[in-house]
Amino acid sequence: MTPLTPNKYSAIKRSLNNSSKTWLITGVAGFIGSHLLQHLLSLNQTVIGLDNFSTGFQHNLDAVQAITTGSQWQRFTFIKGDICHLQDCIQATQGVDYVLHQAALGSVPRSLDDPIKTNNNNINGFLNMLVAARDEKVSSFTYAASSSTYGDHPALPKVEENIGHPLSPYAVTKYVNELYAEVFARNYNFNCIGLRYFNVFGQRQNPNGSYAAVIPTWTSALIKGNTVYINGNGETSRDFCFIDNTVQMNILAATAPAAARNQIYNVALGERTSLNDLFNLIKTTLSSLGLAVAAVKPSYRDFRPGDVLHSQADISKAIKHLGFHPEYTLADGIIAAMPWYKENVSAE
Ligand SMILES: NC(=O)c1ccc[n+]([C@@H]2O[C@H](COP(=O)([O-])OP(=O)(O)OC[C@H]3O[C@@H](n4cnc5c(N)ncnc54)[C@H](O)[C@@H]3O)[C@@H](O)[C@H]2O)c1
Repeated sequence: MTPLTPNKYSAIKRSLNNSSKTWLITGVAGFIGSHLLQHLLSLNQTVIGLDNFSTGFQHNLDAVQAITTGSQWQRFTFIKGDICHLQDCIQATQGVDYVLHQAALGSVPRSLDDPIKTNNNNINGFLNMLVAARDEKVSSFTYAASSSTYGDHPALPKVEENIGHPLSPYAVTKYVNELYAEVFARNYNFNCIGLRYFNVFGQRQNPNGSYAAVIPTWTSALIKGNTVYINGNGETSRDFCFIDNTVQMNILAATAPAAARNQIYNVALGERTSLNDLFNLIKTTLSSLGLAVAAVKPSYRDFRPGDVLHSQADISKAIKHLGFHPEYTLADGIIAAMPWYKENVSAE
């Protein structure tokens, strides 16, 4: 594989702007899916979106419509459907160049509560999408893998080739996705790229419910004056990745040259932040927006089963072979995301 230059993303965006391709985003009404939609429409692409609204929302699609032009929005076709139904997948992939497969049931605790449901959506649904995309002969199939696949492997930072045993049903499903993708690449000459997302965050990430991710959960609790719970002593660490960096990786992966395909890539910042430091960063940013949270102290409780203690990605493979160049630090991303939470959580 030939190393790519850091300005690869700008060049790809320019070339996409000059030639509209057709993209399928599954899970388009979710957090990551709706941001992919927003960016692709802003690049004048044609987008088909598939979602069953199990954890996604019409209001995410409405928010994208509100910030795109009328002619860009007309390039979007929404299909309310389920990846567990092969027929829906076949319908959605018609005429598609690039698939960005995001639809899945996220959350480690949800998978421990209901492993069968997680398995059905994340494995059966994934296989349906692979079959439909293979039969439609799409140019590439980029899918949301997960850092949970590193499981109990102790090494830090995480390198794509070295994984441990999965710690949850969710992690099993995401690993099985990688195995299926590899088998499809080997047997059907099918172009797949797996993106192992670390903790993605940003505007529109759902702050509600017991399965919400840490940044929206804490932000919402701070805004509403509720207790912020930290699982463990707060020295647990994660590699938090702002949504725009994640969108960049999807676009780079989908359009990657043949030599960079049929690989797995970490999607992260390549840095480790403790939960205590994250809490202080969120608090400081909300304070600067005028919220009286500076004196709030978190409440510490037990670790959750299935969670890993530390997580940090090595992103050198994505930098070298896809030209990944994260544009947002953690602080940049928190500063970009917090006004959205201030506006939307307060308005509830
Ligand atoms: N957010 C993260 O930090 C993170 C980390 C690792 C992996 N991922 C993966 O990224 C992807 C997107 O995550 P997200 O954070 O945007 O979650 P999300 O819950 O906001 O989005 C998932 C979307 O998929 C849809 N969906 C679920 N099952 C479906 C089905 N059977 N048929 C059609 N649509 C279905 C949901 O309605 C939702 O709109 C998921 O595959 C998730 O496992 C996310």
